[in-house]
Amino acid sequence: MRRKLVVANWKMHGSLAQNQQLLDSFKAHLANLKHVDVAICVPYPYLQQAQSTLSGTPIAWGAQNVGKYPVGAYTGEVAASMLKDFGATYVILGHSERSTAYCESAENVAAKFVTAKNAGLTPVLCVGETLQEREAGVMEHVVSEQLDPIIALHGAGIFKNAVISYEPIWAIGTGLSATPEQAQSMHEFIREKIARLDPEAAMSVRIIYGGSVNPLNASKLAAMQDIDGGLIGRCSLNADEFEQICFAAENAAIKH
Ligand code: 13P
Repeated sequence: MRRKLVVANWKMHGSLAQNQQLLDSFKAHLANLKHVDVAICVPYPYLQQAQSTLSGTPIAWGAQNVGKYPVGAYTGEVAASMLKDFGATYVILGHSERSTAYCESAENVAAKFVTAKNAGLTPVLCVGETLQEREAGVMEHVVSEQLDPIIALHGAGIFKNAVISYEPIWAIGTGLSATPEQAQSMHEFIREKIARLDPEAAMSVRIIYGGSVNPLNASKLAAMQDIDGGLIGRCSLNADEFEQICFAAENAAIKH
């Protein structure tokens, strides 16, 4: 059975002092979770702080992007091996805030996905549709097309032990989460698509949900069959709210 996973995406927030308060609280309150993996994805400069605070605890850490090449003359980029140097295990890729604000293409994300996987990082691939696409009923087609470049590059087997985060763009930062049924339906679609190509990868890939997850909706989302956890933005910057979400996932895992 897949373990639940809750990932914090701090985005471009934080300072050494604020981070320390959050990380100390997570360390104090989340170390005893039995059925949930927790990872904190921080801005690059704070990887060392995450490493020094979280080493020796079950809480993992990671980054929010990675360079697509292993090494070289790529000003401003950060290599997967550098993330590994700071003990990172996860890396968020293809977040819609990067595709809209930095024109990141699905092909670029696919290359980064393979680079991350080859370096031994666990990629957290974000996919999701806009409100217009959902209203037009083409959300599955859109998400499918976001997965295709990765499958074309490396086959569906690359999703084995990876993480996909379904993040409908209309739900991110809006307070308007997808309903558990809407999310479940898309998660099932994604898993079935991968299963047609590689059943083993489909069984092991963790498909988590992101978009206005909060302590009030986390339990119902986590209770759905194909929702393996959450990718949390705003509420990951509040220790109490993030911890409640992690416990909601823990309780859902116990009930499953
Ligand atoms: P919010 O939880 O703030 O909606 O952000 C979701 C997200 O973008 C996580 O990657």
